[in-house]
Amino acid sequence: MEEFKTLFDQIKSKIENAKSIDELEKIRVEIMGRNGIITSLMKKIPEMPIEERSKFGKDVNDLKEKANKFLSERMILLREIEERSKAFQKYIDLTIPGPLRENGKIHVINQVINECVSVFSKMGFDVVEGPEMENVYYNFEALNTPEWHPARDLHDTFYITDSILLRTHTSPVQVRTMERRKPPLRIVSAGRVYRNDYDATHLPSFFQIEGLAIDQKISMADLKGTLENAIKSLLGEDKKIRFRPHYFPFTEPSVEVDVSFGGKKEWLEILGAGMVHPNVLRNVGIDPDKWQGFAFGMGIERIAMLKYGINDIREFPRNSLKFLRLF
Ligand code: PHE
Repeated sequence: MEEFKTLFDQIKSKIENAKSIDELEKIRVEIMGRNGIITSLMKKIPEMPIEERSKFGKDVNDLKEKANKFLSERMILLREIEERSKAFQKYIDLTIPGPLRENGKIHVINQVINECVSVFSKMGFDVVEGPEMENVYYNFEALNTPEWHPARDLHDTFYITDSILLRTHTSPVQVRTMERRKPPLRIVSAGRVYRNDYDATHLPSFFQIEGLAIDQKISMADLKGTLENAIKSLLGEDKKIRFRPHYFPFTEPSVEVDVSFGGKKEWLEILGAGMVHPNVLRNVGIDPDKWQGFAFGMGIERIAMLKYGINDIREFPRNSLKFLRLF
């Protein structure tokens, strides 16, 4: 009796654990087949004492019946599972590519900044950084622009306290660099600047790249050559470039540079530049009789406008994906 009970339990758990129709078929052969468990039990009957045969035979039959019942129940279940998964495969075609996800990309302004940095790096300029929240001293005073100076009206803009403002240009980085590093030096610094301006060619917050070169024999010719080379690398050899006399308190002489724009006889100003004013050098303890230098501040959005023929600078901060995907 006991023996039949354990045998029954073993058979039952084998059947219940069958995971597929194929597996179940193997188990069926193991139990019911010609050399299976049941058959081998039957074969024992003739060797038994007559009195035990009928009881034993009954138990084996019983076992056989139950095993059959379990096998067919399991078969029904596994068939259903296999059928369902086939139906499921009909609806879900795993070979179809998944939904497309758009890749992110570098914003057009950062692309242009990277290009400018790369052009100037090749000419030997290091990259430095400066704060967007700046001291009045660095933004104006050290740049030869005292409080009474009329040029400050053009720039007096977003103040945080009386002595701290959002920088109106990247030129304060010139002063910060010269305080830290001894000449000769060549640096560029790109970043955001802020002004009280807003029209098709001006934004209240835009990007500039500042350049500064200090050495013992630097002239306006070096400035001109450097800028021409950079502008042509950025915008193409065919671009017309115009140097126009201008005034900045921190350079002397000063120029503004325009690039031909929009086919007709139009120009777009892209930068201010000049020879570093002796007072600026004195402010950072550099002897202007020994050292000279040039500096420039270029508008990044303006370069992007020229590069891609964009007429309205306000497209950049609008950040419409339709626009940004173009670059
Ligand atoms: N800082 C000036 C501006 O933003 C540009 C400039 C930079 C001019 C360096 C001369 C030298 O308008």
